[in-house]
Amino acid sequence: MNTITVSAPSNIALIKYMGKIEGSGNKPTNGSLSYTLENLRTFVRLTEISGDQDQWKPFVREDLTPLDLSEKGQQRFLKHFSFLKDKWGVQKNFLIESANNFPSDCGLASSASSFAALTLAAAEMFQKLNPQEWGTDKKYLSELSRQGSGSSCRSLYTPWALWQHEYAEPMALPFENLHHLVVIVEDSKKEVSSSEAHKLVTTSPRFEGRVERAEMRLRDLTTALRFDDWHIARQIVWDEFIDMHRLFETSTPSFTYMTDGSRKVLDECQKLWNKWQDGPLVTMDAGANVHLLFRNEQLKSFSDYRELFMKDFKVLAFEGIKGNVH
Ligand code: PMV
Repeated sequence: MNTITVSAPSNIALIKYMGKIEGSGNKPTNGSLSYTLENLRTFVRLTEISGDQDQWKPFVREDLTPLDLSEKGQQRFLKHFSFLKDKWGVQKNFLIESANNFPSDCGLASSASSFAALTLAAAEMFQKLNPQEWGTDKKYLSELSRQGSGSSCRSLYTPWALWQHEYAEPMALPFENLHHLVVIVEDSKKEVSSSEAHKLVTTSPRFEGRVERAEMRLRDLTTALRFDDWHIARQIVWDEFIDMHRLFETSTPSFTYMTDGSRKVLDECQKLWNKWQDGPLVTMDAGANVHLLFRNEQLKSFSDYRELFMKDFKVLAFEGIKGNVH
């Protein structure tokens, strides 16, 4: 049986992709920079089938949580797969099975890891069937993945990825082994999808100047990281996610992902930073959960924060290298 299994990680943007060029296949209005979350992965298994169309099913494997994809989600996944088949000129049909290695009820976005895994799985399978010169070119695969889900194009590189236009590329920066905590403030499905958010933010009066603000932060953040300046990096990362959330709140209609829980976690992080003049990078995506990234040598404070937030919330903790899921 012709079958392969491939996995890809998720990523968290420190400079956010928010706003896309209309009708461009997810080309961003500004550059973004992400850290790859090696421990949060989607697995995709492709099997050639004799049926007359591709099919999607949850991937059932003991160590994985089967994906619970809505009908719309399945159609989007199948559409991207069919786009990839066309690129390679493949006509055979496949069963696509996918699952995450993290709980599906924790409100973590999985479109980045799922589309990256689907693109990489298709590339591996189709290179066997109908090899193309560009079929193993990472940048080109990143460009293809982008057309399924924008943020997925950054998941092809680790640990840092920079995405400015068509595709993402690796970026050499210090801090290659960060520890990651996610404070799960809200585990229900979000009401406004990121696709809708990309459209709505353009109605905010604050969208004017957003591209310049994000680009400036991108330059400043890479400089700060290069010069080992964690303090400045932390401030830029904080300003950036607040800027994105302000766009949401000032859109027409306005919307928000922040909950009392998110605010409580952010307040606590701010207090601890003020007290110690050190702490994690703090960021939020288009959701209520709060992501914290600690330097390799901050392992002690990583467990202290974990203990602290576990009192009120569900917390996922991933140690950098060979990270354990707790
Ligand atoms: O890839 P999308 O369309 O789900 O957009 C993701 C947008 C954010 O997660 C909010 C930011 C980012 O850069 O990942």
